[in-house]
Amino acid sequence: MTRSFEKVGVVGLGTMGAGIAEVFARAGLGVTGVEADPAALERGRGHLEGSTGRALAKGRLTEAERAEILGRVTFTTSLEDLADADLVIEAIPEVMDFKRALFTDLDRICKPSAVLATNTSSLSVTEIAATTARPGQVVGMHFFNPAPVMKLVEVIHTVTTEDGLAEEVAALARRLGKTPVSVGDRAGFVVNRLLLTYLNHAAVLLENGLAARDDIDAAMKLGVGLPMGPFTLLDLIGLDTSYEVLCVLFQESRDRRHAPAPILRELVTAGLLGRKTGGGFHREEEPGGPPPTAKPSVGSVAVLGEGAEELAAKLADAGFKTASAEAADVVVALSRNPVIELAAGLPRPERLVGLHLVGDRIAEVASTALTSSEAARAVEGLVRIVGRTPVRCKDRAEFVVDALLYPYLNDAVRMYDSGYAAIEDIDSAMKLGCGYPSGPFEMLDELGLETVRDGLRALYAEYREPSFAPAPLLDQLVTAGVRSIRDLP
Ligand code: CAA
Repeated sequence: MTRSFEKVGVVGLGTMGAGIAEVFARAGLGVTGVEADPAALERGRGHLEGSTGRALAKGRLTEAERAEILGRVTFTTSLEDLADADLVIEAIPEVMDFKRALFTDLDRICKPSAVLATNTSSLSVTEIAATTARPGQVVGMHFFNPAPVMKLVEVIHTVTTEDGLAEEVAALARRLGKTPVSVGDRAGFVVNRLLLTYLNHAAVLLENGLAARDDIDAAMKLGVGLPMGPFTLLDLIGLDTSYEVLCVLFQESRDRRHAPAPILRELVTAGLLGRKTGGGFHREEEPGGPPPTAKPSVGSVAVLGEGAEELAAKLADAGFKTASAEAADVVVALSRNPVIELAAGLPRPERLVGLHLVGDRIAEVASTALTSSEAARAVEGLVRIVGRTPVRCKDRAEFVVDALLYPYLNDAVRMYDSGYAAIEDIDSAMKLGCGYPSGPFEMLDELGLETVRDGLRALYAEYREPSFAPAPLLDQLVTAGVRSIRDLP
């Protein structure tokens, strides 16, 4: 029997729940939105009115269409109103006890044929299903923030899910205009397992003082082309949600990279949860970034390393005097690797600054333990003169972008190698769930497997973090001379 999903219930109308309710209503389904109390219900209604109001203001919806969408949604504080829903999806806080209690109630209230879905970001769908007398009809249906915009829905089946139900729910996701990726029940599923590990890594690097918040954000946005830097995205997701997802990941993996960075705990405890509270890593009242500095006053500049001639020519065109390393006031060492060894060999090592050009929009400006602040500031200025955004950082293996990107790519290889998800599914999940310009396997092909493998080796040597060691599959592909993981038989 193929089910027809016409009436749905959404329990919990916070950012995600309200977004999910909007998605269903836009697709023509009748929605009953449930919240715990009248005040929360009004906030939920406000989310929906605000979101459709913005679409109206942008000319994406007409007044009549907006009224039709809102007209499909009924608001209530009573779960009993879900008795005749064909599918109920919950988007309440990520606390297992809350979910178990809710599913026990839903199981009692909803008609026997109803499908119960959870939008959990990481909790065990199997455990949630086990609280009901209908575990075969319980699935995960995981949307991404902002739900009306992001195209991905992860459909999670458990060992007890009825045959065919995941396909029916995937078909429903397609009807909503989404792209489903069906996976088994593992903490973090595809996206959060890769994404939150990377976001947490960014928070750890921030705590370690590798680079400042805005430098790391700029590095990943402008250097990799991600839609948001890690701290802007953490604020969008919510630091409480991020913290909870990481705790669940850690509980399952015992991998210390999943242990939430202490700064997350601190901000959450302080009530700074991100956008929803008006402050997280970024605060609303903060003024904009620093104004671009004037042309730096540098007597003469020496440029060393691969690509030195081109950069020196650009600086000369901009009116700077170029000279040899011995004679210059500032020495720029173009390098993918730490430059302290080079600096230590110079008579005045405080003049040397490492520079790593990433893509065509940013340059990582690496200060060694010996670099003077004047030299670092001068090089930041030079970077702006040649049309790039400087990303200030310490002189550490792989600096910022590659230090964050390569372990993420390594994790994707491990995920594929574990048999959890296919290459195409992992690539589409990251593109459609997070708006990445390309999936991790596409990025690997573009960067070259050997470059990434070598970068991971350097990271491992620097930080001795076991999971930075290249995934055995990656190592083997490089050794075998295979150029793309897709070329595997
Ligand atoms: N609700 C509805 N629509 C929204 C919206 C919201 N909250 N935020 C943005 N939009 C719409 C805008 O109205 C706009 O629509 P049009 O193109 O029709 O005009 C469109 O999205 C683009 O928005 P903006 O122009 O304002 O801004 P942008 O181009 O910077 O895009 C973004 C904003 C879509 C959020 C983009 O920055 C992005 O893709 N960021 C990455 C988000 C991400 O990674 N999400 C996944 C987080 S992980 C998660 O959610 C899972 C979990 O379990 C934790």
